[in-house]
This record gives sequence, C-alpha cells and structure tokens, in this order.
Amino acid sequence: MEIKNKYVTIKNSINGAPKESDFEIKVENVSLIIESESKDVVVKNLFVSIDPYHINRMKSQSSSQGTISFATAITPGECIDSYGVGRVLFSRRPDFRKGDLVAGLLTWGEYSIVKEGSLLNKLDPNMGFPLSYHLGIFGFSGLSACAGFFEVCKPKPGERVFVSAASGSIGHLVGQYAKLLGCYVVGSVGSQEKVNFLKERLGFDDAFNYKQETDLKLALKRCFPQGIDVYFDNVGGRMLEAAVANMNIFGRVAVCGVISEYTNATTRAAPEMLDIVYKRITIKGFLAADFMNMYAEILSKTVEYVKDGKLKTVEDISQGVESIPSAFIGLFNGENIGKKIVKVADE
Ligand SMILES: NC(=O)c1ccc[n+]([C@@H]2O[C@H](COP(=O)([O-])OP(=O)(O)OC[C@H]3O[C@@H](n4cnc5c(N)ncnc54)[C@H](OP(=O)(O)O)[C@@H]3O)[C@@H](O)[C@H]2O)c1
Repeated sequence: MEIKNKYVTIKNSINGAPKESDFEIKVENVSLIIESESKDVVVKNLFVSIDPYHINRMKSQSSSQGTISFATAITPGECIDSYGVGRVLFSRRPDFRKGDLVAGLLTWGEYSIVKEGSLLNKLDPNMGFPLSYHLGIFGFSGLSACAGFFEVCKPKPGERVFVSAASGSIGHLVGQYAKLLGCYVVGSVGSQEKVNFLKERLGFDDAFNYKQETDLKLALKRCFPQGIDVYFDNVGGRMLEAAVANMNIFGRVAVCGVISEYTNATTRAAPEMLDIVYKRITIKGFLAADFMNMYAEILSKTVEYVKDGKLKTVEDISQGVESIPSAFIGLFNGENIGKKIVKVADE
C-alpha cells in the first residue's frame, strides 16, 4: 500500500537570510509495506522541531557541515531531517511496533522513513505532558540549556548571569535554571513584549531590547554595574564583544550558538583579546550531543521541576507542513517566543 507524503525541501542552497521562494512543498508516494529484511520504520509525523542550525546545513558551504552527522549539508530537492515526535505506522523491528509513540530524527513532512541506526526512541505514553515538550524542554533545548549552563558555565549561587536570545527555546530555560540556582539574571531580546515576558512571566531580574540600544557595551554596563560572571551566548556578533567587555575576572562564556552570524557573512564577533587574557575569561563552545550521557539524569530533574511548577516552558506552535518555511524564516526575524514547533497532524 502506498500513501502520499507532503514534505518541505529547499530549491537551492541558501547563503543569506532564508525567504519563502527558497522552499518548495513536494508530494511523493511512500510505501507502507517494507521488505522483510528491512529495518526501516515508517513514522507518521505529529510534531516537528524548527531550529536555527538548519540554516547552516542549507548553505552551499559552512565550516559546521563536516563536524558532526546532524550538521551535514542538505541537498536541494531532498527531504530535510529534523527532530520530531510521531507514531509508528509500520515496522518489522521488534523494538518498534505499530502505534508506538516515538521521538527522533524525522523529516519536515507528513511521514518519515527512519533507517536503522538513526536516532529513534520510544516515548512513555503515560508521562502526562504534551507530546510537543519532547521537542523543547524535554528534548535538545532542555539538554542544551541545562548541560550548557551547569556543565560549561560552572555557575555559582549569587553570580551574575547574562543570556542572549533569552526568550527563545533555549534562552528562556537557561534564565530559569540560573534563577533556581540563585543567580542574578538578565536577558537580551528583540522586543518590548519579550522584555515583559522575561520579567513578568519568567522572573528574570532584568531584560533589555537590544534593537533599541545604540551601544550594547553601555546597555550591559547599565544592567551589570558589578560585571558579568557568566554569559550564555546564543547570538555571537556584537553582543559577544559587548559581553566580553563587561565580563569579570575568571568569567565564563558558553557559546551555544551565534544566530546573528548565520545569515550575515559580514557579521563576525571580534572580542577584545586583551580582555580575554587579562581577565582570564574562558570562552567554550559546546553541542548538546556532547552531553547525551547525561540526558536521562537531566530529563528526570527537568520533569520534577516542571511538575513542581518551578520551571515553565513556552511553545510557539504553527499548524501544518505548509507552515514550515514561514516558521523557519520567522526564527531569524524574532517572530517566536519559546520553542518553535510545527504540528503536522493530530495525535
Ligand atoms: N550548541 C547546541 O547544541 C545548540 C542546540 C540548539 C540550538 N543551538 C543554538 O542556540 C541558539 C538558540 O537556539 P534556539 O533553538 O533557542 O532558537 P530560538 O532562540 O528559539 O530562535 C531564534 C531567536 O533568536 C533571536 N535572533 C534571531 N536573529 C537574531 C540576531 N540577528 N541577533 C540576535 N538575536 C537574534 C530571535 O529573538 P529576538 O527577538 O530576541 O531577536 C529569535 O526569536 C541558536 O544560535 C542555535 O543555533 C545550539
């Protein structure tokens, strides 16, 4: 039996800001019957994750593409793999049965054929949380936020913590983890609505709209008169330069991402190297994948925090495969608050 699969692809490599005309919705036939020796699993996609890192995979060339399997280049015309949650439609593997809820590497489309060896895990259907949480707070955003903050930044109670893209999928969790530890936390975001969200709904001590600041160094000086101990960097560029200028001695910078540099080849951070030397600042990049061995521990801690109401998560969910291109483009225009997700089908 065959079904029609609607999916999103790129028409061409994208080397600047993504636009609607770079994307195409295609339809192809997918066979639900898999040969007896095949270990493929056919999954009906329910939710797919929309993440900034895909833009680096869509470029004709990026230094990220050869580093780790999930950063490989996306070929125009082909399916785009992405983390997602779905339900198994067909499987000959003993570990996955029809009807199982799964999370793993699916595609930006209605159905996914998941090859053996590709990331796919069964979900507990009785966890009692929305399934979409597995894409954000219980997925790679939560892992990046928790491992990046605690393992890379090595924060101490009372320290002063700065988070950029602070209302985004990772940033809004980092700020809350920092508050739970007893830190002073300030976030930078791209609108007054987001400033209010951080201060009123998430308990950040302060926040500012970077788009309204003429001098980012002065803005950070105003928010951190006693300097920054920890900077969780999601944006790179001029914000990283301003943060380094305001760091305290032995400050730590965890570089989670540099979104301001993804779509603009001329924006590159050039922090003052003398500050880094004389203030003995550590700047360390990391990938969530480095911390997979801690995932189970982080997940159980996060679940407890959410159950106790100590940690809140916010999601921004669009509907249908057709909305994937605009959802993705919106990440680079600051349209999302919290984790950006596309709901592809009803549960
Ligand atoms: N290291 C890892 O393993 C890992 C894993 C996942 C993601 N990441 C990285 O972590 C960062 C945050 O990811 P996320 O999933 O949490 O995305 P996200 O923050 O939910 O979405 C992007 C947000 O970034 C901000 N932004 C967009 N363009 C910007 C620019 N030019 N300058 C400053 N801010 C800009 C926008 O908010 P504003 O309105 O505030 O501008 C936008 O809403 C990204 O750099 C991503 O690539 C790293």
